[in-house]
Amino acid sequence: MGGRMKDLRALHGRVAATPAPEASIPSAPPEAAPRAKVRSRGADVGSHPLFRQVSVGRAMGQVTGLASPFFRTVSAVDGIRAEVEGRWVDHFASYDYLSMNGDPRLHDAATAAMATYGVSARAARPAGGNLALHEDLDAALAAFVGHEAALVTVSGHATNVAIIRTLMGPEDVVLADALSHNSVFEGIRASGATHVSVPHDDADWLDDWLTANRHKYGRALICVEGLYSMDGDCADLPAFVEVKERHDAWLTLDEAHSFGVLGATGRGLCEATGVDPRRVDVIMGTLSKTLCSCGGVIAGSRDLIDLMRYNAPGFLYSVGMPVPSAAATLAALRIMAAEPERVARLASRGATMLRLMTERGLETGPCAGHAVTPVIIGDSLRTAWVSNGLLEDGVNVPCMVAPALPDRSARLRFFLNADHTDDVLERAADLTAARVRASREVRL
Ligand SMILES: Cc1ncc(COP(=O)(O)O)c(C=O)c1O
Repeated sequence: MGGRMKDLRALHGRVAATPAPEASIPSAPPEAAPRAKVRSRGADVGSHPLFRQVSVGRAMGQVTGLASPFFRTVSAVDGIRAEVEGRWVDHFASYDYLSMNGDPRLHDAATAAMATYGVSARAARPAGGNLALHEDLDAALAAFVGHEAALVTVSGHATNVAIIRTLMGPEDVVLADALSHNSVFEGIRASGATHVSVPHDDADWLDDWLTANRHKYGRALICVEGLYSMDGDCADLPAFVEVKERHDAWLTLDEAHSFGVLGATGRGLCEATGVDPRRVDVIMGTLSKTLCSCGGVIAGSRDLIDLMRYNAPGFLYSVGMPVPSAAATLAALRIMAAEPERVARLASRGATMLRLMTERGLETGPCAGHAVTPVIIGDSLRTAWVSNGLLEDGVNVPCMVAPALPDRSARLRFFLNADHTDDVLERAADLTAARVRASREVRL
């Protein structure tokens, strides 16, 4: 390993170990606090501990000559091709799983709705912004998911925070899969509930833990995902439903990456596993992926949705979904229902990509061959080098590196769309294999 690389690793390790700042709310007015204990926190952004991560990123770029693989500028998109950093490339960084984003039917629906309502919802839904369009979308999503009721919100991330923050409190426990999305962890923090990290997809571990500890808490909430976007695998939903029923707990299922992807008609993990959706207390999803829009949805019993409607801060105190987004989502739901072959095409692309990558000896972890295929490289710098090289080769694929992931598990993530062709997948797999091989020789 090059000396410069070692230096960077050491630097990176130090930054990752930087302690979080202590709580900044003093228990007494500042003038009453003993002066010796007051630690100065200046207004200089550069002195903030989190800024040091930015500095390390910049230093890494300077020392290695590697351009950042993040925040690449996309200036146009045409189906599975995109203009990225000034050149047209094959695009594997889009959550447009069913390739509906460019469909004129979505654009027409958005334009027609704007003629009726304008662009913005103009207000929060409880206070003047409750459009008939929103109510139609709530009802369509409830029917799509197979629950009594649903509620659309303006942010997928804020939806998870709202669900957990609203339902749980300090006397409760949230048992979240270790690979859960950041929004789940933020929700747990905001709720004040005890956080228990469940080893990935281990329903037996969860069962044992609840047997030993359930009695110590008020409510218990289990959080799993339909399709985990880091590894491309799915929760063992029937097992988690059994465990939650045995221990009188709630279960939330995050279908952000599984709407449009899992099940014969793309309704998600319940459809794929034959579980009645009404046995899952809260099904959440995002509208930003298959449904070509922005925002989140909560689906559940009528009581649950009423509870959220009158209490969830990210809904109650936030504007209603913008008109073109709501109309486009409704149109996307209709296209999905009319054209289930899109789901079948995506399923075949997922299986093909997994086969192509494994045939070339690339490490794909527990990937189940759906819409996300990771290629695990391990080392963060090498992963960034491979991603940058692939962009030069005409393939845009995003990467995840430490500290977002545990050290040594950095990876590329190929997001597949129904319109990717076998030729495009094969070319990407060949180029990836070549770049990964070359990365073993390169001195960064
Ligand atoms: C599993 C999961 N849940 C929630 C979210 C947040 O969704 P959004 O980006 O629509 O806010 C994401 C985002 O990618 C996600 O992957």
